[in-house]
Amino acid sequence: MASQAQTQVGIIGAGPAGLLLARLLRMHGIDSVILEQRDRAYVEGRVRAGVLEQGTASLLEEAGVAARLKREGLVHEGIEIVARDRHLRIDFRDLTGKAVVVYGQTEVTKDLIAARLAGDGPIVWNAADVAVHDIDGEQPTLTYRSDGRDHLLVCDFVAGCDGFHGVSRQSIPAQALQSFERVYPFGWLGILAEVPPCSHELIYARHERGFSLASMRSPTRSRYYIQCAVDEDLSAWPDARIWDELKLRLGPAAAAGMTTGPSIEKSVAPLRSFVAMPMRFGRLFLAGDAAHIVPPTGAKGLNLAASDVHYLSRALIAFYKKGQADALERYSESALARVWKAERFSWWMTTMLHKLHDESSFEAQMQLAELDYLASSRAAQTALAENYVGLPY
Ligand code: FAD
Ligand code: PHB
Repeated sequence: MASQAQTQVGIIGAGPAGLLLARLLRMHGIDSVILEQRDRAYVEGRVRAGVLEQGTASLLEEAGVAARLKREGLVHEGIEIVARDRHLRIDFRDLTGKAVVVYGQTEVTKDLIAARLAGDGPIVWNAADVAVHDIDGEQPTLTYRSDGRDHLLVCDFVAGCDGFHGVSRQSIPAQALQSFERVYPFGWLGILAEVPPCSHELIYARHERGFSLASMRSPTRSRYYIQCAVDEDLSAWPDARIWDELKLRLGPAAAAGMTTGPSIEKSVAPLRSFVAMPMRFGRLFLAGDAAHIVPPTGAKGLNLAASDVHYLSRALIAFYKKGQADALERYSESALARVWKAERFSWWMTTMLHKLHDESSFEAQMQLAELDYLASSRAAQTALAENYVGLPY
């Protein structure tokens, strides 16, 4: 016999989307149970995004988990774009009046988990075989295995926050879902190292050898990426080769300021654009990577997960506190309007900065013309800046 429990919102996935949703609901007296297939150390250790829009930082503040973000987050008022030895600074503050905050996804996740475990409600770690049932009825249920036993969780609603490979999206009948996808023919090789960053701002570089990015996590910890093959063999990339490649691609100024050192994390990530529509089926609501993926070039993945949660939390709060269902009805439409614009920006940044074709091709000339236009037009720079700092909710 399966043990049975009940909650208002059953949340699948303890990534940023699931954890932030649970926290915002709790602040309005709405109960949830989070089911996570991995353990806490794995979830807290997963190195991913690093740039937060002001809207994301404000949402974390509203959730009461921004004390460390305010102390340790690095406010960045611009980025640098390098191509053919030409340096262009995009001045966010001047162009939009806004800035972004550099604060790792690992830290956001740790802050949210600490708040949850301080009395907000349960996270079931190592929940296996999570399955969604009756989402088109009045009372959906979740089943899973934990501690060697079968469990049944009866819910009012289910939030599918289980990332791109999760079960939620796959539980929606195929004919009810439309999906759009572009898989890019390259990946990003990322390293993390305990060395000071080579520049005080992020550098995005287009180079004939391929794209590279200089980022950071703190004044003493750097994060770098280079464009590589999707199936790149990491053993062919000892640290010294990565540092040499970064110096070539980022250019002499960054190379001169670069401190090298042993990597503490090294991995290859594929690049993909993906959207599933609608983001709702019956009483199942998708949020974050479960519904959409962007290539990381626009730094939008984590920020989109947060904006979905903004719409979904408000809709659930209006339902429980005021008996209003209209925001829940509109959730998919509201979230997707922002998602598609972030998809466009991330695709555009990716296409402009990566090596897709030979330098002698028409496409390469288009990239150079795009960059040239960006360098010469305040209007073009404003368009980049307002998307990078985050479009309004
Ligand atoms: P996730 O963070 O993926 O969380 C989903 C959670 O659900 C996970 O904890 C997972 O273990 C759990 N889960 C999955 N399946 C199940 C199941 N069946 N049952 C229970 N739990 C389940 N974005 C950027 O902006 N910059 C970057 O540099 C960047 N790098 C990335 C590198 C990688 C390898 C990946 C995968 C993503 C990267 N992203 C990056 C994107 C960004 O990290 C995501 O957009 C963000 O994590 C989305 O949050 P989420 O909560 O929707 O999903
Ligand atoms: C990162 O620091 O991991 C990072 C920053 C900006 C991006 C992508 C990744 O566009």
